[in-house]
Amino acid sequence: MNRKSFLKLGSLGLASFKNITLGLSPSIKPIVVSTWDSGMPVNAAAWTILSVNGSALDAVEAGAMHIENEINCCVGLGGYPDRDGIVTLDACIMDEQSNCGAVAGLEQIKHPVSVARKVMELTPHVILVGDGAQQFALENGFKKEARVLSADAEKAYKEWLQKSEYKPVINIENKTQNGPFAPNFFEDGSANHDTMGLVALDGAGNLSGAVTTSGMAFKLHGRVGDSPIIGAGLFVDNEVGAATSSGVGEEVIRICGTHLVVEFMRQGLSPSQACKRAVERIVHRNPAKAKSLQVGFLALNKKGEYGGWAVQKGFVFSVKSSLENKIYPAKYSL
Ligand code: GLY
Repeated sequence: MNRKSFLKLGSLGLASFKNITLGLSPSIKPIVVSTWDSGMPVNAAAWTILSVNGSALDAVEAGAMHIENEINCCVGLGGYPDRDGIVTLDACIMDEQSNCGAVAGLEQIKHPVSVARKVMELTPHVILVGDGAQQFALENGFKKEARVLSADAEKAYKEWLQKSEYKPVINIENKTQNGPFAPNFFEDGSANHDTMGLVALDGAGNLSGAVTTSGMAFKLHGRVGDSPIIGAGLFVDNEVGAATSSGVGEEVIRICGTHLVVEFMRQGLSPSQACKRAVERIVHRNPAKAKSLQVGFLALNKKGEYGGWAVQKGFVFSVKSSLENKIYPAKYSL
């Protein structure tokens, strides 16, 4: 390490660097990790809060809001519609005290993650769905947006209507075709899933997480995936760690995926090994079916260690701390 990069590390980074050079497990905070390479700008938005000693809760909300704003991206109102041509959004958020809130099947609201936060903070409930979620959002100052599909979503929907065939395409959640890990998994250029999950550890040592998605493209109207289900798409235990997921939500729900990952970390597994064990649960349940689907888990522990694992090749995740700003390919089981 030269003098310039050493000075750039700053005090937080320096402590971690010392630990690494001493062979100790580094304690890295703050840090934020998120699903896919589209997590890079999401992490940057979260970092604007984490880097000034903001809370992990505020950071994950800001990160999720960032991608919800991207009309041509994979999440939020720009996402792909259900089979009736309607974009329905799922989101959740969870903090270090196990407070949590979620919305499912929410229509025409730009920031489902923020509605989820309001559910958490203003109601005694955890999940609001459909019309009730929208009514709650409107009562709490959110604006009702026009019901229009993004150009990308409209094109894909029209193409899909020609066959109206439901066929999951592995890794299709990642629609970025130019990234270092991208194109080999684009079988037909269409999209099938859209999920952003992120978990963060703040400077005070607290964990939080958020997930936002338009869910499985061309799903049945009313279908809810793993993303807004606490313990499936997201779980945070401030004593242990946090995890999030992406991929075929039904498979994640069946094993209470992110809760399982956190429990494996509680038993002493690293984030990466904990994700691997959860993936193996999915594969073991139905090995033949697993060959044609993708699920990826991403976990962060209390020490700021992170890792991911997927059923198939192609799942990537993004990491931002004072030491790095990178995309990693997750290891995989099949
Ligand atoms: N993982 C997102 C979904 O299945 O809806």
